[in-house]
Amino acid sequence: MQVRIIDHPLIQHKLSLIRDVKTGPKEFRELLEEIAMLMAYEITRNLPLEDMEIETPVAKCCCQVLAGKKMGVVPILRAGLGMVSGVVRLIPAAKVGHIGVYRDPETLKPVEYYCKLPTDVAEREIVIIDPMLATGGSSVAAIDMIKRKGGRSIKLMCLVAAPEGVLLVNERHPDVEIYTAAVDERLNDHGYIVPGLGDAGDRIFGTK
Ligand code: PRP
Ligand code: URA
Repeated sequence: MQVRIIDHPLIQHKLSLIRDVKTGPKEFRELLEEIAMLMAYEITRNLPLEDMEIETPVAKCCCQVLAGKKMGVVPILRAGLGMVSGVVRLIPAAKVGHIGVYRDPETLKPVEYYCKLPTDVAEREIVIIDPMLATGGSSVAAIDMIKRKGGRSIKLMCLVAAPEGVLLVNERHPDVEIYTAAVDERLNDHGYIVPGLGDAGDRIFGTK
């Protein structure tokens, strides 16, 4: 299983709070935003830097700034929306695309309904964000959609993954690195992650 688990203590602490059934939508949204920001900090750790001359009020000096490709952030609707603000606070130059995929409750298969990506998607480092990687169907569909539009450099950032989802993404898109705060035990008969955190979209938007 190819997956990077981001086990920073702050992320693990906040993940435990967000899993709690007693955590309401307001706190859930705040925690998700905070975790997304902390995860973005970790996944950008190896971005290339280049030298640049800067003049401080005291002297000129050689400093370092980000080099290389620009980034694109692509939330999978709906639940991925809850992670956007945290990521773009750290990476304000990132363009934001949107992919609409929902999981058919009977078949658990992904249903695509929306795709709007930056026009220069091929030149950007794309980070797909969605708190939940369950069967993996939605993430695989999102990666397929981005690749069809020319995307080549893609990472997937989620909060909680099931082994089944990690394996499916690894199999269909071995070039896509997966970052998650946890890989849980399994899926239940309804395709929910156990122990997971329930339905992320419903908990963010208070729809259940
Ligand atoms: C949830 C979640 C993922 C998907 C994961 O979305 O946010 O997108 O399920 O499941 P999968 O890995 O089995 O595809 P959902 O389909 O509930 O849509 P919503 O966010 O619009 O509620
Ligand atoms: N989608 C969710 O929101 N939660 C799960 O556990 C699985 C899919």
